[in-house]
Amino acid sequence: MNSIRRERALLVQPQAPGHRDPSLAEEFADLARSAGAEVVSVIDARLERPNAGFYIGTGKVEELKGYCEAGDIDLVMINAPLSPVQERNLTDALGRRVIDRVGLILDIFAMRAASHDGKLQVELAQLKHQSSRLVGKGASLDSQRGGAIGMRGPGETVLETDRRLIRAKIDALQKRLDKIDVQRTQMRRARVRNALPRVAIVGYTNAGKSTLFNALTGSGVYAADQLFATLDPTVRRIEGLACGTLLLSDTVGFVRDLPHDLVAAFRSTLAEAREADLLLHLIDASDPERAQRIVAVDEVLSEIGAGDVPQWRVFNKIDRIEGLEPRCEEADEGRLNVWLSARDGRGLDALRDALGRHFAADLFQGELLLGAADGRLRAQLHEQGAVVSEHLEPEGWRLHVRMARGLAERLAAGAGGHPLHALLLVTPSTPT
Ligand code: GTP
Repeated sequence: MNSIRRERALLVQPQAPGHRDPSLAEEFADLARSAGAEVVSVIDARLERPNAGFYIGTGKVEELKGYCEAGDIDLVMINAPLSPVQERNLTDALGRRVIDRVGLILDIFAMRAASHDGKLQVELAQLKHQSSRLVGKGASLDSQRGGAIGMRGPGETVLETDRRLIRAKIDALQKRLDKIDVQRTQMRRARVRNALPRVAIVGYTNAGKSTLFNALTGSGVYAADQLFATLDPTVRRIEGLACGTLLLSDTVGFVRDLPHDLVAAFRSTLAEAREADLLLHLIDASDPERAQRIVAVDEVLSEIGAGDVPQWRVFNKIDRIEGLEPRCEEADEGRLNVWLSARDGRGLDALRDALGRHFAADLFQGELLLGAADGRLRAQLHEQGAVVSEHLEPEGWRLHVRMARGLAERLAAGAGGHPLHALLLVTPSTPT
C-alpha cells in the first residue's frame, strides 16, 4: 500500500453546467492525498448528463489521454460513482488505472483499518466493489500500472474463477463479521444494562474527533492530519463529572457520499452512534465548507438510524479563528452549541461541565449501608463509578452513591428487599 514512489494521479471533477463548486475538487484532492497519491492536476469536466460508456464526454476522454501522456500519470481518479463498464472503458481508452470515488474511499479505509474486524469490514466492502467490476474481458495493462483484480482478466475462464472465489470469500467474511456483530451487540447490551450514559463523537472526517476523544479521556488514540485516521470504534470512560462516569466513543469519520457498502459494512461501528444517549457532532469551525459538511453528517446519521438521537454541535478548532472564545450556548429544543479547541484544550472544561449537568439531571444519589454479604453489590457499584465515598463502620460499609436513574432502577430491581431498594426509590435526589 505504501509504495516507495507516490503514484502520480490526475483527478477529474465532474461539474454541472452553470454551477461550478470548487469545494468538490478540493475535497477530492484531499482524499486522493490521503490515499498516498501525488495530485498532479485536477481537471473539471462539464457534464450535462453522464455518458453511458465513459461517464464523461468522449472529447474529455481525448483531452485526458493527452494529459496522461504529457504528465507521466499513473492513475486517473474520477469523483463520481462509475459503473463497471465505464470504469473499464476509461481504463482501456486511457491506458491507465482508473479509480472512482467509491474505490478511492475504500482504498483509504483499507490503509487505515487497524483492528482485526475493521480490516475484515473493509475487505468485505472492497470485495463487493470489485466483484461488480468483474465483467467481460479485462483491459490489458502491465502489472506495474495495474494490479486491481478487474483489470487482470485474460479471459472469461479466469474471470469466472475469480468471481466464484470472490463470492466464496465474501460469504466467509460476512459470516465472520456477523459473528463479531453479535459479540459487539452483546457488549453493548452489557453496557446498556450498566446504564452508564453513553455519548458518541460523530463528525466529518478530519474534524478532530480523535483529538477531542483523547483530550476528554486522557487516552492516546491515533490522531493524524489524514482522512479517516479512525476506523474502529473506541470506547473509554470519562470520570469525575457531576453525573459520575459516562462512556464516550469515537466513531469513524463521515464523508459526503459515503459508499453504501461501507455504511453497511461498518454497521457495528456506526451502531455506537445509533445507540448513544447523546451525540457530540464535531465540526471543524475553521472549515469554509462547514455548513455543507454538517448536512452531510446529518444525512449519514439519518441513513444509519441515528437521526433521532439527541445531538449537540461542537465547533472545534476555534484557535484557527481570530477573536473566537470558547463558549456553550443554548440552541433550539435544549440542544447546545459548544465552541472549543480540542487541541489547545480551551473550552473542554465547559463541555465536561455541560455533559455532567445534562446527565446529572437524571441522577439518583444517597447513602447505603452494606453488610458482609453485599460484597458483589459493592463491587458493582464501584465498577459503575457510582461510589462517591465510603467508610468502614462497625455495621459494615457506608457508601455515598451517585448513579444514573436507569442503573439505580435496575440495581433496585435486582436487590429485591435490600435496603438499596428503599433508598433508591425513595430518595431520588436533585443534584447540587
Ligand atoms: P478521522 O479519523 O479522519 O475521522 O479524523 P478525526 O475527526 O478523528 O480528526 P483527528 O483528531 O485525527 O484530527 C485531524 C487533524 O486536526 C489533526 O491534525 C489534529 O491535530 C487537528 N486538530 C484537531 N483538533 C484541533 C484543534 O482544536 N485545533 C487545530 N488547529 N487543529 C486541530
